[in-house]
Amino acid sequence: CGIVGYIGNLDSKEILLKGLEKLEYRGYDSAGIAVKNEAGVTVFKEKGRIADLREAVDQNVIANTGIGHTRWATHGVPSRVNAHPHQSASGRLTLVHNGVIENYAILKREYLSDATFISETDTEVIVQLIEKFVNDGLEVEEAFRKTLKLLKGSYALALLDDQNDQTIFVAKNKSPLLVGVGDGFNVVASDAMAMIQVTDQYLELMDKEVVIVTKDYVSIQKLDGQEVSREPYTAELDMSDIEKGTYPHYMLKEIDEQPAVIRKIVQAYQNESGDLTIDGNIISAMGAADRIYIIAAGTSYHAGLVGKQFIEKMAKIPVEVHVASEFVYNMPLLSENPLFIFISQSGETADSRAVLVEVKELGYKALTITNVPGSTLSREADYTLLLHAGPEIAVASTKAYTAQLAVLSILANVTATSLGLSSTIDLGHELGIVANSMDGLIDAKEEMEAIAREYLSTTRNAFFIGRSLDFYVGLEGSLKLKEISYIQAEGFAGGELKHGTIALIEDGTPIIALATQEAVNLSIRGNVKEVVARGANPCIISMKGLETEEDRFVLPVVHELLAPLVSVIPLQLISYYAALHRDCDVDKPRNLAKSVTVE
Ligand code: G6P
Repeated sequence: CGIVGYIGNLDSKEILLKGLEKLEYRGYDSAGIAVKNEAGVTVFKEKGRIADLREAVDQNVIANTGIGHTRWATHGVPSRVNAHPHQSASGRLTLVHNGVIENYAILKREYLSDATFISETDTEVIVQLIEKFVNDGLEVEEAFRKTLKLLKGSYALALLDDQNDQTIFVAKNKSPLLVGVGDGFNVVASDAMAMIQVTDQYLELMDKEVVIVTKDYVSIQKLDGQEVSREPYTAELDMSDIEKGTYPHYMLKEIDEQPAVIRKIVQAYQNESGDLTIDGNIISAMGAADRIYIIAAGTSYHAGLVGKQFIEKMAKIPVEVHVASEFVYNMPLLSENPLFIFISQSGETADSRAVLVEVKELGYKALTITNVPGSTLSREADYTLLLHAGPEIAVASTKAYTAQLAVLSILANVTATSLGLSSTIDLGHELGIVANSMDGLIDAKEEMEAIAREYLSTTRNAFFIGRSLDFYVGLEGSLKLKEISYIQAEGFAGGELKHGTIALIEDGTPIIALATQEAVNLSIRGNVKEVVARGANPCIISMKGLETEEDRFVLPVVHELLAPLVSVIPLQLISYYAALHRDCDVDKPRNLAKSVTVE
């Protein structure tokens, strides 16, 4: 979910709506704003997109203070009633919330057994509880603090009081939230991108902090009331990075940006003599580790699987890759000197953060690889490596994935060099070849559209197969396809399909097979034969030098280890066109959110 707030001299509606539009990537099943003027608080909310909310807002209501929310449903179905803001029984207090309150049912039973609830949300329990304490005689600020002390779970909160024109009450625990500072106004936002059009000065908030925001000042306090002093930082975001320009979709723009991103990464990691380098502390931590644990979710997890190969093949350090949400509840036996690497485009994924908190408590070192400087995972880890990919807005991740692979390859290669291993490659040069090859691939859009039309426009399911590195890219290809086209798609190790899943192959079932690795070229082709014998419709994507006549598309040659950086591009484009052909919302697929800040 995403939160915004504004307090100042201007009418707040448009600022809030624009902010929410920028936060739509965090969830878009319902949205709402509450604005406050002398007449009181007015709430507008709607199921659906910000565009639907915009329609519902009465332009005649002018108000200088307001809060807003775009939702990704956790407790309760997406509906107008469950949309935020939520109000207390008397209507005096109005609240927006991102996060999950774990003990809401207990709080409801203990304190609010007589109260009536309108929605199914945990948020309504918070706002009713604050009002209960106000009714018991506390000031709103005190009631807010008292409530916060009772909450278990994650929250970013912004609260309006009908009887107070001057203040937005804000608090944060585990869920991201920033306060933006302006001249004669202040703002609240889950992400600086939301409010970059009004200010580039932001205050980071730490867990369990309460903030009193008025138009002229911001007071950050600990839960016990102790003031905290903190300087704002400048958010370096370029408006042109967050607009889609002439592109029909952010996803297509971001696919096209990939060669430039790879070149930018090479530049960013080069020293004055043109060698790729990484902060010495990180390289020492890599060298000192007897085992590396990569923790991630979704596409970043798939990047981790490829990253393991880079690190093991180049730097010869054993690596385990774990899905964050599993690791946190079922931790494997750890080695004696582990190093943790968190891969996260947003740097905010709650599942990954839960693991980070746990391993920091155990006293281990952690490195975050992220696209967002200053993000929670970056701040809380010992070290950070940035992706330099620019904001990624489409929900389906593309340029962040290839950027993650590029940064992981640099990390592996620089570590190998520092360890004096002969398994290093001339990586700067090889990544240059990758970027050039990517240029060619993004020009092959017509071909990719034709493949999507031929194989995927009506199919119910699709399989991606490959061996070794190609298998991991297949997993990512299948995730792209299912995310945005809703075709049931699965990635499989070429040799594993015959052990069960081959039962699903019918006449015409599309099989997308990758063949970029010489050592397994013959065996993957054998697997293709097995499925073709059972009626499958194969689409083989191979690398030049390994191709045969039956191949549908041949990729330009790059270093074999780096093949995932190029072979993923046709899969991204095929998914994009499959989604278009099936009339799906490419940038905002159903049920998903780009940044999932709840566990
Ligand atoms: C969400 C997104 C995925 C993304 C995953 C991890 O589920 O929809 O596209 O891969 O989160 O996000 P992160 O920001 O941690 O890489």
